[in-house]
Parts: sequence; C-alpha cells; structure tokens
Amino acid sequence: MAKLGTIILAVGLIGLSACADKAETRRVLAGADSAAGLSLIRTHGCAVCHAIPGVAWPRGRTGGSLEGVGARPMIAGRLPNQPAVMAAFVRDAPSLLPDTGMPPLSLSEAEARDIAAYLYTLDDD
Ligand code: HEC
Repeated sequence: MAKLGTIILAVGLIGLSACADKAETRRVLAGADSAAGLSLIRTHGCAVCHAIPGVAWPRGRTGGSLEGVGARPMIAGRLPNQPAVMAAFVRDAPSLLPDTGMPPLSLSEAEARDIAAYLYTLDDD
C-alpha cells in the first residue's frame, strides 16, 4: 500500500508541474506591441549578432539564434525568462550580467517591452 501511495503522489506531482509549465509559458507584456517590436529589432541591428525569425538579413552568429527564445526557461542561461527580466535584458544586458557579450542598446523602456513581446512570439523551439 505504501508503494501505491508513492505512485499516486508521484503522478499527482507530475500533474502539478505540467500545470505550472503551462502557466509559465504564458508570458505577456501588458500594452506591448509585438509588431512594433519586430520593427525595432530591424532598426536596432539585433540581427547583426542574432539569427531572428522574421528578419531575413543579416543573420549574425555572435549572440546565437533567437528562434524559440520565448520558450526557453532561462535568458542567456542565467536569468529567469520572465517578461520584466527580458525587457530589462534587451535594453541593458550588462546591468544584469556584467560579463555578458550582449551590449547595452539605446532603447526606451516601452521599446524594450515591445521587443520582448515580439521575442515571446518566438516560442516554438
Ligand atoms: C554586438 C552583438 C549583439 C547585438 C547587436 C545584440 N545582441 Fe543579443 N546577445 C549577444 C550575445 C553575445 C548574447 C549572449 C549573452 C550571454 O550569454 O551572456 C546575446 C543574448 C541575447 C538574448 C538571450 C538569448 C538566450 O539564448 O537566452 C536575447 C533575448 C538577445 N540577445 C536579444 C537581442 C536583441 C533583441 C537585440 C537588439 C535590440 C540584441 N540582442 C542585440 C550579442 C548581441
């Protein structure tokens, strides 16, 4: 009986974590405009360093592809992938990770939120 209890508990926990994952992938930035974000990505030269779905050229390699970035659990492997963190990262990555190769970019807070909204449309890894 103890074994059965353990199995039931384990199945229950798997169920719970599945729900948590679903909630976590809904990453929404209220009021942000993902289409404007894509335009800003084009005009700010992000693609010089990144391959980005939606941007045909250039497709830089320095920073890695951003395909599926919206579904990754971490930003740059070290920060939780949450909307506010993503917006702060695209605007001024070195303020969060002083040793990062991602440069600070001259973006307003609203522009960074629009860009983050676009990045969260890239969620099919
Ligand atoms: C000069 C090159 C360069 C430019 C320009 C640049 N990045 Fe990056 N980016 C990087 C590098 C290098 C990394 C890896 C950082 C790390 O791992 O610490 C990175 C990481 C990232 C990440 C995290 C990716 C991941 O796998 O978690 C995102 C998101 C990102 N950049 C978005 C942008 C956006 C949006 C722009 C334009 C506004 C931009 N980058 C412009 C070099 C650049």
